[in-house]
Amino acid sequence: MYVDNHANEANIFKSQSQSRLKDLGQLISSEMDHASSTCNPRQLAEAALRSFLPLLSDHDLPSFSVEQAAYARRLVYTDPRGRFSILVLRWTQGAKTPIHGHNAWGSVGVYSGNMGCQCFDRIADGENIESLKMTLDIKIGRGDITSVNPDPEGIHSLYVEENNTAATIHIYGMDLRDDPQCINVMYED
Ligand SMILES: [Fe+2]
Repeated sequence: MYVDNHANEANIFKSQSQSRLKDLGQLISSEMDHASSTCNPRQLAEAALRSFLPLLSDHDLPSFSVEQAAYARRLVYTDPRGRFSILVLRWTQGAKTPIHGHNAWGSVGVYSGNMGCQCFDRIADGENIESLKMTLDIKIGRGDITSVNPDPEGIHSLYVEENNTAATIHIYGMDLRDDPQCINVMYED
């Protein structure tokens, strides 16, 4: 798990588009098209997200309701070549994900609210996982970015801090048009 706190870095995108998240996706797609084969796509996406996060306002994010103590996601962009997808998640007070990993790299930026992020290591006996050990429990807020490598690295859980709601931007290195949930590798129900 990598954490980035550079919320106010370069304000280089001047677009007044109603869909800056689409702009973000198109920028990453274009950069991937022209990147060298040694370029790390997660780092590329993370850098673009870092630049866009301070520019987003409420009308850039889809509006949808979420049940109490829950979270819900909306797919907002998929790379034409299926290299990554961008989702918006909204969280209500008390929401917490199961412990999980991802089938691809991922970067999460906090648009609003205060979140907690717990990271875990597998204590394994060969192929069998005997237990999970928490290795980190950090707080992240507006403008912060966390990134993970694919499972079995980056096992984590995200939750909303008390008395908070939150909205987050997620970029995953998979085509999630058919099933956004297929990104997840679950370690608990
Ligand atoms: Fe996750």
